[in-house]
Amino acid sequence: MQLNNSYKKDFPIFSEKSNEKLIFLDSAASSQKPMSVIESVSSCYKYNYANIHRGLYDLSERLTEQYENVRKKIASFINANSEKEIIFTRGATEGINLVASSWGMKNINEGDEILLTSLEHHSNIVPWQMVSKVKGAKIKVIPIDKNGDLNLDKIGSLMNEKTKILSITQASNAIGTIPNLKLLIEKAKKKNIKILIDGCQGIVHMQVDVQKLDCDFYVFSGHKIYGPSGIGVLYGKEKILEGMDPYQGGGEMIDQVSFENTTFAPLPIKFEAGTPNIVGTIGLGAAIDYVNQIGYKNIIDYEKYLHSYAIEKFSRNDDIVIYGNAKSKTSLISFILKGIHPHDAGMFLNSMEIAVRVGHHCAQPLMSFFGVPGTIRASFAIYNTIEDIDCLYNGICSILKRYK
Ligand code: ALA
Repeated sequence: MQLNNSYKKDFPIFSEKSNEKLIFLDSAASSQKPMSVIESVSSCYKYNYANIHRGLYDLSERLTEQYENVRKKIASFINANSEKEIIFTRGATEGINLVASSWGMKNINEGDEILLTSLEHHSNIVPWQMVSKVKGAKIKVIPIDKNGDLNLDKIGSLMNEKTKILSITQASNAIGTIPNLKLLIEKAKKKNIKILIDGCQGIVHMQVDVQKLDCDFYVFSGHKIYGPSGIGVLYGKEKILEGMDPYQGGGEMIDQVSFENTTFAPLPIKFEAGTPNIVGTIGLGAAIDYVNQIGYKNIIDYEKYLHSYAIEKFSRNDDIVIYGNAKSKTSLISFILKGIHPHDAGMFLNSMEIAVRVGHHCAQPLMSFFGVPGTIRASFAIYNTIEDIDCLYNGICSILKRYK
Protein backbone atom coordinates (compact mmCIF):
# COMPACT_ATOMS: atom_id res chain seq x y z
CA MET A 1 0.00 0.00 0.00
CA GLN A 2 1.25 3.40 -0.96
CA LEU A 3 0.94 5.68 2.05
CA ASN A 4 2.75 8.69 0.62
CA ASN A 5 0.87 10.00 -2.33
CA SER A 6 3.11 10.42 -5.36
CA TYR A 7 0.29 11.08 -7.83
CA LYS A 8 -0.61 14.60 -6.66
CA LYS A 9 2.46 16.08 -8.34
CA ASP A 10 1.12 14.87 -11.72
CA PHE A 11 -1.76 17.36 -11.37
CA PRO A 12 -0.57 20.95 -11.93
CA ILE A 13 -3.66 22.51 -10.35
CA PHE A 14 -2.35 21.58 -6.92
CA SER A 15 1.00 23.32 -7.35
CA GLU A 16 -0.57 26.55 -8.63
CA LYS A 17 0.12 29.27 -6.07
CA SER A 18 -3.51 30.37 -5.82
CA ASN A 19 -4.56 26.78 -5.06
CA GLU A 20 -1.91 26.01 -2.46
CA LYS A 21 -4.51 25.43 0.24
CA LEU A 22 -7.08 23.74 -1.99
CA ILE A 23 -8.52 20.48 -0.66
CA PHE A 24 -10.33 19.01 -3.64
CA LEU A 25 -12.85 16.34 -2.68
CA ASP A 26 -15.29 16.55 -5.58
CA SER A 27 -13.82 14.16 -8.11
CA ALA A 28 -17.10 12.27 -8.52
CA ALA A 29 -18.42 15.46 -10.14
CA SER A 30 -15.33 15.93 -12.28
CA SER A 31 -11.73 14.97 -11.70
CA GLN A 32 -8.64 17.16 -12.01
CA LYS A 33 -6.36 16.63 -15.02
CA PRO A 34 -2.81 15.32 -15.04
CA MET A 35 -0.15 17.25 -16.97
CA SER A 36 0.03 14.51 -19.62
CA VAL A 37 -3.64 15.11 -20.54
CA ILE A 38 -3.25 18.90 -20.52
CA GLU A 39 -0.14 18.64 -22.69
CA SER A 40 -1.76 16.28 -25.19
CA VAL A 41 -4.65 18.74 -25.66
CA SER A 42 -2.39 21.76 -25.84
CA SER A 43 0.11 20.21 -28.27
CA CYS A 44 -2.71 18.99 -30.50
CA TYR A 45 -3.98 22.57 -30.86
CA LYS A 46 -0.45 23.97 -31.12
CA TYR A 47 1.16 21.63 -33.62
CA ASN A 48 -1.25 19.16 -35.01
CA TYR A 49 -4.73 20.53 -35.57
CA ALA A 50 -7.10 20.17 -38.53
CA ASN A 51 -10.51 18.65 -39.09
CA ILE A 52 -10.46 14.86 -39.36
CA HIS A 53 -11.89 12.27 -41.76
CA ARG A 54 -12.20 14.98 -44.44
CA GLY A 55 -8.79 16.33 -45.37
CA LEU A 56 -6.57 14.85 -48.06
CA TYR A 57 -3.55 16.60 -46.60
CA ASP A 58 -0.98 15.27 -44.13
CA LEU A 59 -2.07 17.30 -41.11
CA SER A 60 -5.64 16.04 -41.32
CA GLU A 61 -4.63 12.47 -42.07
CA ARG A 62 -2.20 12.42 -39.16
CA LEU A 63 -4.83 13.61 -36.70
CA THR A 64 -7.45 11.25 -38.16
CA GLU A 65 -5.08 8.38 -37.45
CA GLN A 66 -4.48 9.58 -33.89
CA TYR A 67 -8.22 9.98 -33.33
CA GLU A 68 -8.96 6.48 -34.62
CA ASN A 69 -6.11 5.09 -32.54
CA VAL A 70 -7.86 6.42 -29.44
CA ARG A 71 -10.94 4.47 -30.50
CA LYS A 72 -8.79 1.32 -30.72
CA LYS A 73 -7.21 2.13 -27.36
CA ILE A 74 -10.62 2.43 -25.73
CA ALA A 75 -11.86 -0.77 -27.34
CA SER A 76 -8.90 -2.55 -25.79
CA PHE A 77 -9.27 -0.67 -22.45
CA ILE A 78 -12.81 -1.98 -21.94
CA ASN A 79 -12.23 -5.17 -23.93
CA ALA A 80 -14.78 -4.51 -26.68
CA ASN A 81 -14.82 -7.00 -29.50
CA SER A 82 -14.05 -4.37 -32.12
CA GLU A 83 -13.48 -0.62 -32.40
CA LYS A 84 -16.73 -0.47 -34.40
CA GLU A 85 -18.46 -0.87 -31.05
CA ILE A 86 -16.96 2.38 -29.69
CA ILE A 87 -19.01 5.51 -30.38
CA PHE A 88 -17.67 8.87 -29.26
CA THR A 89 -20.27 11.02 -27.51
CA ARG A 90 -20.30 14.23 -25.49
CA GLY A 91 -20.47 12.17 -22.29
CA ALA A 92 -22.40 9.45 -20.52
CA THR A 93 -25.59 11.50 -20.62
CA GLU A 94 -25.50 11.69 -24.39
CA GLY A 95 -24.70 7.97 -24.56
CA ILE A 96 -27.83 7.09 -22.57
CA ASN A 97 -29.95 9.52 -24.60
CA LEU A 98 -28.59 7.96 -27.79
CA VAL A 99 -29.61 4.47 -26.69
CA ALA A 100 -32.99 5.62 -25.34
CA SER A 101 -33.72 7.44 -28.56
CA SER A 102 -32.28 5.12 -31.21
CA TRP A 103 -32.80 1.75 -29.57
CA GLY A 104 -35.62 2.58 -27.13
CA MET A 105 -37.95 4.39 -29.52
CA LYS A 106 -37.67 1.47 -31.92
CA ASN A 107 -37.84 -1.47 -29.54
CA ILE A 108 -39.95 -0.32 -26.59
CA ASN A 109 -43.72 -0.37 -27.14
CA GLU A 110 -46.94 0.22 -25.28
CA GLY A 111 -47.17 -1.85 -22.10
CA ASP A 112 -43.45 -2.68 -22.11
CA GLU A 113 -41.37 -2.07 -19.01
CA ILE A 114 -38.05 -0.30 -18.48
CA LEU A 115 -36.23 -1.41 -15.35
CA LEU A 116 -34.12 1.10 -13.39
CA THR A 117 -32.90 1.18 -9.79
CA SER A 118 -33.38 3.63 -6.91
CA LEU A 119 -29.69 4.47 -7.19
CA GLU A 120 -29.83 6.11 -10.60
CA HIS A 121 -28.58 9.56 -11.54
CA HIS A 122 -31.18 11.74 -13.29
CA SER A 123 -29.37 11.09 -16.58
CA ASN A 124 -30.36 7.43 -16.31
CA ILE A 125 -33.97 8.24 -15.41
CA VAL A 126 -35.12 11.17 -17.53
CA PRO A 127 -34.20 9.78 -21.01
CA TRP A 128 -36.18 6.62 -20.22
CA GLN A 129 -39.14 8.63 -18.95
CA MET A 130 -39.13 10.48 -22.25
CA VAL A 131 -39.31 7.16 -24.12
CA SER A 132 -41.97 5.77 -21.81
CA LYS A 133 -44.17 8.88 -22.27
CA VAL A 134 -44.04 8.67 -26.07
CA LYS A 135 -44.37 4.89 -26.27
CA GLY A 136 -46.75 4.22 -23.39
CA ALA A 137 -44.24 2.05 -21.55
CA LYS A 138 -43.81 1.78 -17.77
CA ILE A 139 -40.79 2.55 -15.61
CA LYS A 140 -40.15 -0.03 -12.89
CA VAL A 141 -37.59 0.45 -10.14
CA ILE A 142 -35.47 -2.01 -8.17
CA PRO A 143 -35.62 -0.62 -4.61
CA ILE A 144 -32.81 -0.34 -2.09
CA ASP A 145 -32.56 -1.14 1.59
CA LYS A 146 -31.51 1.31 4.30
CA ASN A 147 -27.83 0.60 3.66
CA GLY A 148 -28.17 1.53 0.02
CA ASP A 149 -27.83 -2.03 -1.28
CA LEU A 150 -30.30 -3.16 -3.94
CA ASN A 151 -33.19 -5.14 -2.51
CA LEU A 152 -33.60 -8.05 -4.89
CA ASP A 153 -36.52 -9.76 -3.09
CA LYS A 154 -38.94 -8.93 -5.92
CA ILE A 155 -36.50 -9.20 -8.79
CA GLY A 156 -38.35 -12.24 -10.16
CA SER A 157 -41.46 -10.16 -10.86
CA LEU A 158 -39.57 -6.95 -11.74
CA MET A 159 -37.83 -8.80 -14.56
CA ASN A 160 -40.68 -10.25 -16.57
CA GLU A 161 -41.67 -10.85 -20.18
CA LYS A 162 -42.60 -7.15 -20.58
CA THR A 163 -39.20 -5.91 -19.41
CA LYS A 164 -37.22 -4.67 -22.39
CA ILE A 165 -34.15 -3.15 -20.78
CA LEU A 166 -32.38 -2.92 -17.44
CA SER A 167 -30.52 0.40 -17.29
CA ILE A 168 -28.35 0.47 -14.20
CA THR A 169 -25.45 2.30 -12.66
CA GLN A 170 -22.14 0.55 -12.08
CA ALA A 171 -21.70 2.67 -8.94
CA SER A 172 -23.96 5.25 -7.32
CA ASN A 173 -22.61 8.78 -7.68
CA ALA A 174 -24.44 9.89 -4.53
CA ILE A 175 -23.75 7.12 -1.99
CA GLY A 176 -21.16 4.92 -3.70
CA THR A 177 -23.08 1.60 -3.82
CA ILE A 178 -21.62 -0.90 -6.29
CA PRO A 179 -24.51 -3.17 -7.32
CA ASN A 180 -23.99 -6.86 -7.99
CA LEU A 181 -24.09 -6.52 -11.77
CA LYS A 182 -22.96 -10.07 -12.42
CA LEU A 183 -26.01 -11.48 -10.69
CA LEU A 184 -28.43 -8.99 -12.25
CA ILE A 185 -27.06 -9.45 -15.75
CA GLU A 186 -27.28 -13.23 -15.46
CA LYS A 187 -30.94 -12.92 -14.46
CA ALA A 188 -31.70 -10.36 -17.17
CA LYS A 189 -30.05 -12.45 -19.89
CA LYS A 190 -32.25 -15.42 -19.02
CA LYS A 191 -35.28 -13.23 -19.81
CA ASN A 192 -33.79 -11.70 -22.94
CA ILE A 193 -33.66 -8.25 -21.33
CA LYS A 194 -31.14 -5.79 -22.77
CA ILE A 195 -28.67 -4.22 -20.34
CA LEU A 196 -27.21 -0.73 -20.29
CA ILE A 197 -24.57 0.10 -17.69
CA ASP A 198 -23.94 3.70 -16.68
CA GLY A 199 -20.23 3.36 -16.00
CA CYS A 200 -19.54 7.00 -15.15
CA GLN A 201 -18.59 6.32 -11.53
CA GLY A 202 -17.41 2.78 -12.20
CA ILE A 203 -14.63 2.97 -14.76
CA VAL A 204 -12.73 5.51 -12.64
CA HIS A 205 -12.39 3.01 -9.82
CA MET A 206 -12.46 -0.46 -11.38
CA GLN A 207 -11.34 -2.37 -14.45
CA VAL A 208 -14.10 -2.79 -17.00
CA ASP A 209 -14.49 -5.76 -19.31
CA VAL A 210 -17.65 -5.37 -21.37
CA GLN A 211 -17.42 -8.88 -22.78
CA LYS A 212 -17.09 -10.42 -19.36
CA LEU A 213 -19.93 -8.25 -18.05
CA ASP A 214 -21.94 -9.28 -21.12
CA CYS A 215 -23.78 -5.95 -21.15
CA ASP A 216 -25.36 -4.68 -24.36
CA PHE A 217 -24.41 -1.04 -23.80
CA TYR A 218 -21.87 0.68 -21.55
CA VAL A 219 -21.42 4.45 -21.25
CA PHE A 220 -18.87 6.66 -19.54
CA SER A 221 -17.63 10.25 -19.51
CA GLY A 222 -14.05 11.35 -20.11
CA HIS A 223 -14.00 14.13 -17.54
CA LYS A 224 -14.44 11.80 -14.57
CA ILE A 225 -11.54 9.56 -15.60
CA TYR A 226 -8.94 12.36 -15.66
CA GLY A 227 -9.76 13.31 -19.26
CA PRO A 228 -11.29 16.42 -20.82
CA SER A 229 -14.95 17.36 -20.51
CA GLY A 230 -17.29 17.13 -23.49
CA ILE A 231 -16.08 13.70 -24.56
CA GLY A 232 -17.51 10.32 -23.64
CA VAL A 233 -17.96 6.82 -24.93
CA LEU A 234 -20.88 4.61 -25.78
CA TYR A 235 -20.04 0.94 -26.19
CA GLY A 236 -22.69 -1.18 -27.84
CA LYS A 237 -22.63 -4.74 -29.15
CA GLU A 238 -22.01 -4.51 -32.87
CA LYS A 239 -25.10 -6.44 -33.89
CA ILE A 240 -27.36 -4.23 -31.79
CA LEU A 241 -25.76 -1.00 -33.00
CA GLU A 242 -26.14 -2.22 -36.58
CA GLY A 243 -29.87 -2.55 -36.06
CA MET A 244 -30.28 0.95 -34.62
CA ASP A 245 -31.13 4.08 -36.60
CA PRO A 246 -28.83 7.10 -36.39
CA TYR A 247 -29.32 9.41 -33.43
CA GLN A 248 -28.48 12.65 -35.22
CA GLY A 249 -28.23 13.46 -38.90
CA GLY A 250 -25.53 15.60 -40.45
CA GLY A 251 -22.12 15.51 -42.04
CA GLU A 252 -19.88 12.44 -41.86
CA MET A 253 -22.56 9.94 -40.80
CA ILE A 254 -23.80 9.49 -44.37
CA ASP A 255 -22.99 7.31 -47.33
CA GLN A 256 -25.04 8.97 -50.13
CA VAL A 257 -27.36 11.95 -49.80
CA SER A 258 -30.00 13.20 -52.22
CA PHE A 259 -33.06 15.31 -51.52
CA GLU A 260 -35.12 12.14 -51.74
CA ASN A 261 -33.09 9.80 -49.57
CA THR A 262 -29.95 9.23 -47.52
CA THR A 263 -27.97 6.08 -46.86
CA PHE A 264 -25.78 5.96 -43.82
CA ALA A 265 -22.11 5.35 -43.08
CA PRO A 266 -21.12 2.07 -41.43
CA LEU A 267 -20.38 1.79 -37.71
CA PRO A 268 -19.19 3.63 -35.76
CA ILE A 269 -19.43 6.83 -37.87
CA LYS A 270 -23.18 6.31 -38.37
CA PHE A 271 -23.57 7.65 -34.83
CA GLU A 272 -21.05 10.50 -35.05
CA ALA A 273 -22.73 13.30 -37.01
CA GLY A 274 -20.80 16.55 -37.49
CA THR A 275 -17.26 17.48 -36.53
CA PRO A 276 -16.57 15.51 -33.35
CA ASN A 277 -14.72 16.62 -30.22
CA ILE A 278 -11.39 15.86 -31.88
CA VAL A 279 -9.07 17.30 -29.26
CA GLY A 280 -11.19 15.99 -26.39
CA THR A 281 -10.76 12.52 -27.87
CA ILE A 282 -6.99 12.93 -28.03
CA GLY A 283 -7.05 14.08 -24.39
CA LEU A 284 -9.15 11.08 -23.43
CA GLY A 285 -6.54 8.83 -25.04
CA ALA A 286 -3.88 10.44 -22.83
CA ALA A 287 -6.11 9.96 -19.76
CA ILE A 288 -6.46 6.24 -20.54
CA ASP A 289 -2.67 6.02 -20.87
CA TYR A 290 -2.34 7.71 -17.48
CA VAL A 291 -4.74 5.26 -15.81
CA ASN A 292 -3.00 2.31 -17.48
CA GLN A 293 0.37 3.58 -16.36
CA ILE A 294 -0.75 3.71 -12.71
CA GLY A 295 -2.70 0.45 -13.02
CA TYR A 296 -6.07 -0.40 -11.54
CA LYS A 297 -4.55 -2.43 -8.75
CA ASN A 298 -2.74 0.64 -7.40
CA ILE A 299 -5.80 2.83 -7.91
CA ILE A 300 -8.08 0.40 -6.08
CA ASP A 301 -5.65 -0.21 -3.20
CA TYR A 302 -4.93 3.46 -2.67
CA GLU A 303 -8.55 4.61 -2.87
CA LYS A 304 -9.61 1.81 -0.52
CA TYR A 305 -7.02 3.01 1.96
CA LEU A 306 -8.37 6.60 1.82
CA HIS A 307 -11.99 5.47 1.96
CA SER A 308 -11.53 3.13 4.95
CA TYR A 309 -9.69 5.87 6.83
CA ALA A 310 -12.51 8.37 6.19
CA ILE A 311 -15.30 5.95 7.07
CA GLU A 312 -13.60 4.95 10.30
CA LYS A 313 -12.93 8.53 11.35
CA PHE A 314 -16.35 9.92 10.43
CA SER A 315 -18.29 6.98 11.95
CA ARG A 316 -16.87 7.75 15.37
CA ASN A 317 -18.58 11.17 15.49
CA ASP A 318 -22.24 11.01 16.60
CA ASP A 319 -23.04 14.35 14.94
CA ILE A 320 -22.25 12.90 11.52
CA VAL A 321 -24.84 10.69 9.82
CA ILE A 322 -23.42 8.67 6.93
CA TYR A 323 -25.76 7.69 4.08
CA GLY A 324 -24.98 4.54 2.20
CA ASN A 325 -23.29 1.64 3.96
CA ALA A 326 -23.52 -0.83 1.10
CA LYS A 327 -21.45 -4.01 1.13
CA SER A 328 -19.39 -2.75 -1.77
CA LYS A 329 -18.74 0.96 -2.33
CA THR A 330 -16.59 3.34 -4.34
CA SER A 331 -14.33 5.82 -2.59
CA LEU A 332 -16.75 8.47 -1.46
CA ILE A 333 -18.51 9.37 1.76
CA SER A 334 -21.96 10.96 1.78
CA PHE A 335 -23.20 12.41 5.05
CA ILE A 336 -25.06 15.14 6.85
CA LEU A 337 -24.21 17.04 10.02
CA LYS A 338 -27.08 16.78 12.51
CA GLY A 339 -29.13 19.99 12.57
CA ILE A 340 -27.13 21.70 9.81
CA HIS A 341 -28.33 22.08 6.22
CA PRO A 342 -25.83 20.58 3.75
CA HIS A 343 -25.68 23.88 1.82
CA ASP A 344 -24.65 25.80 4.97
CA ALA A 345 -21.97 23.20 5.66
CA GLY A 346 -20.81 23.43 2.03
CA MET A 347 -20.45 27.21 2.27
CA PHE A 348 -18.40 26.97 5.44
CA LEU A 349 -16.18 24.31 3.93
CA ASN A 350 -15.68 26.50 0.87
CA SER A 351 -14.52 29.34 3.12
CA MET A 352 -11.82 26.91 4.31
CA GLU A 353 -10.93 26.09 0.66
CA ILE A 354 -12.40 22.62 0.94
CA ALA A 355 -14.34 21.65 -2.19
CA VAL A 356 -17.09 19.05 -1.70
CA ARG A 357 -20.43 18.65 -3.43
CA VAL A 358 -23.58 19.36 -1.43
CA GLY A 359 -27.19 18.83 -2.48
CA HIS A 360 -29.13 16.07 -4.18
CA HIS A 361 -26.28 15.01 -6.50
CA CYS A 362 -28.72 14.71 -9.43
CA ALA A 363 -30.31 11.77 -7.60
CA GLN A 364 -33.49 13.24 -6.15
CA PRO A 365 -35.38 9.91 -5.90
CA LEU A 366 -32.50 8.52 -3.84
CA MET A 367 -32.51 11.55 -1.53
CA SER A 368 -36.31 11.17 -1.13
CA PHE A 369 -35.77 7.55 -0.11
CA PHE A 370 -33.47 8.70 2.69
CA GLY A 371 -35.81 11.61 3.53
CA VAL A 372 -33.14 14.29 3.17
CA PRO A 373 -32.94 17.28 0.81
CA GLY A 374 -29.36 16.41 0.07
CA THR A 375 -26.07 15.34 1.61
CA ILE A 376 -22.47 16.49 1.78
CA ARG A 377 -20.39 14.29 -0.50
CA ALA A 378 -16.62 13.98 -0.31
CA SER A 379 -15.31 11.88 -3.17
CA PHE A 380 -11.72 10.68 -3.36
CA ALA A 381 -9.36 10.24 -6.27
CA ILE A 382 -5.76 9.12 -6.58
CA TYR A 383 -4.40 12.62 -5.88
CA ASN A 384 -6.11 12.86 -2.47
CA THR A 385 -4.27 12.22 0.76
CA ILE A 386 -4.97 11.32 4.36
CA GLU A 387 -4.20 14.98 5.18
CA ASP A 388 -7.06 16.05 2.86
CA ILE A 389 -9.45 13.86 4.86
CA ASP A 390 -8.10 15.21 8.15
CA CYS A 391 -8.62 18.79 6.91
CA LEU A 392 -12.20 17.96 5.93
CA TYR A 393 -12.83 16.36 9.30
CA ASN A 394 -11.33 19.30 11.20
CA GLY A 395 -13.39 21.70 9.08
CA ILE A 396 -16.52 19.76 9.95
CA CYS A 397 -15.67 19.80 13.65
CA SER A 398 -15.32 23.58 13.56
CA ILE A 399 -18.71 23.90 11.80
CA LEU A 400 -20.31 21.64 14.42
CA LYS A 401 -18.75 23.70 17.21
CA ARG A 402 -20.06 26.93 15.71
CA TYR A 403 -23.62 25.64 15.31
CA LYS A 404 -24.00 23.70 18.55
N1 ALA B 1 -22.79 13.32 -11.84
C1 ALA B 1 -21.87 14.22 -11.26
C2 ALA B 1 -21.85 14.14 -9.75
O1 ALA B 1 -22.16 13.11 -9.20
C3 ALA B 1 -21.95 15.59 -11.77
O2 ALA B 1 -21.51 15.09 -9.10
